[in-house]
Amino acid sequence: MNKLNAIVTGGTRGIGFGLAEALVKRGASVAVTYAGNDADAKIAESKLNAQLSNGRKVLVLKGDNSDSEQIKRLYLKAKEVFGPITVLVNNAGIMPIRSFDEISFKDWDDTIGVNLNGAFYWCSLVVQDMKGEGFGRIVNISSVAARGGGVIGPHYAASKAGMLGLTRYAARELGPFGITVNAIAPAFIEDAGPFLEWSEEKIDSLKAKVMVPRIGNVGDVVRAFDYLMDSPFVTGVTLDVNGGTFMI
Ligand SMILES: NC(=O)c1ccc[n+]([C@@H]2O[C@H](COP(=O)([O-])OP(=O)(O)OC[C@H]3O[C@@H](n4cnc5c(N)ncnc54)[C@H](OP(=O)(O)O)[C@@H]3O)[C@@H](O)[C@H]2O)c1
Repeated sequence: MNKLNAIVTGGTRGIGFGLAEALVKRGASVAVTYAGNDADAKIAESKLNAQLSNGRKVLVLKGDNSDSEQIKRLYLKAKEVFGPITVLVNNAGIMPIRSFDEISFKDWDDTIGVNLNGAFYWCSLVVQDMKGEGFGRIVNISSVAARGGGVIGPHYAASKAGMLGLTRYAARELGPFGITVNAIAPAFIEDAGPFLEWSEEKIDSLKAKVMVPRIGNVGDVVRAFDYLMDSPFVTGVTLDVNGGTFMI
């Protein structure tokens, strides 16, 4: 079996934490990154450590996903402790709600920087490790906003659509090396991100937007992720974990 040494960006809470847990459960060493919320990072570290298999390790690394130098530092730290990186989950993301009337150039740069540039920086760093191992899994966490535009704003939709282009190009070039590259496009994950602060009533109103009788949770994203981890013949796809919302 290939040695699983994983990086999950933005893995200290929400969807990223669920994916980090899934990786620990399958026997991986896992480094989770985060931006600045040290309290959540500490909780994540102790929860992940409690589930660790023998000889495997957890790292919690603070750094800004839009900064290539910081990312390089985090990558080198993870590689020093784990060895070559074989799994990358580009999950760190921000979603400031801005219409064209409100958005500044800085909002655009920040969102593209964290959501899209960071994903590219990480990919370019881990690719040589994966080629050397003849095995790799890259999973990019996009959004339904990449499919229809969404409601967050042009910056967010563009960043998440960019991830899908990156996914397909990388899948073509890296497939021959045993590296699969796929995306997941979630929507309305009630136990992550902004939805955690919503009232039950407001969450309930989201049901009108999906094609099934409930909205999503982190477990739904984890199931899609586990499928991609176990599927060497699936590459370049986007799994829509959004209750069918991608169709509207
Ligand atoms: N929740 C949903 O329904 C939903 C729907 C569609 C797509 N998504 C996508 O799924 C991904 C995860 O979303 P989520 O809802 O789980 O998010 P979340 O709960 O808000 O967690 C975000 C994670 O990313 C980290 N992060 C934020 N900015 C960062 C930066 N500049 N550098 C490094 N790390 C950074 C956060 O660290 P700190 O805690 O330190 O800030 C945190 O660990 C995002 O890419 C989001 O766009 C989510």
